[in-house]
Amino acid sequence: MKTLIILTHPNIENSVTNKRWIEELEKYPNNFDIHQLYKVYPDEKIKVIAEQKLMEKYNKIIFQFPLYWFSSPPLLKKWFDEVLIYGWAFGSKSGYKLENKKIGLAISAGATEDNYSLKGEYKHTLKEILVPFELTFKYVKANYHPYFVNYGADSDTQSEVIEESTRKYFFFVNAF
Ligand SMILES: Cc1cc2nc3c(=O)[nH]c(=O)nc-3n(C[C@H](O)[C@H](O)[C@H](O)COP(=O)(O)O)c2cc1C
Repeated sequence: MKTLIILTHPNIENSVTNKRWIEELEKYPNNFDIHQLYKVYPDEKIKVIAEQKLMEKYNKIIFQFPLYWFSSPPLLKKWFDEVLIYGWAFGSKSGYKLENKKIGLAISAGATEDNYSLKGEYKHTLKEILVPFELTFKYVKANYHPYFVNYGADSDTQSEVIEESTRKYFFFVNAF
């Protein structure tokens, strides 16, 4: 069973980290299907039924995105609002279509790990910042798993650092 990677990056052409991660996963089409929301929906008009049918085909789904204003880029929020609806994602006998599916997050953050410590600049951890995602997945009874994160994505752009994060991400998705 393949893992579905839902990538939400508004500017993947100029991306360093997410672009490299996806390039690596694309080498293994038997293991991963990559669904790039901004590429599929450049006009941001999401085809809700198509998205729901796609999700139904997978038991393992990873949402990959760069952290934007301590959250996801906006198309992913729109995707949650429009795709995770009553009668499909929750709230009726035929709902809860994501029940027990393994769902995770893969995030690149421009700021450092130290920034995201309780004593650091933001005084909040990434786990705290990601609570809305955690609760969303719990609400729809999915099996939410700990996230993968690469901190310092804007400062540590040397190729060996990117390659190291790519190796770690590859390990995460394979063990997922
Ligand atoms: C609009 C915008 C908002 C951002 N907000 C955050 C943020 O809240 N926290 C953070 O750590 N990085 C933030 N960043 C930095 C991005 O997370 C970082 O550039 C990205 O993860 C790098 O990955 P990429 O090379 O794939 O684009 C922001 C960047 C942009 C463009």
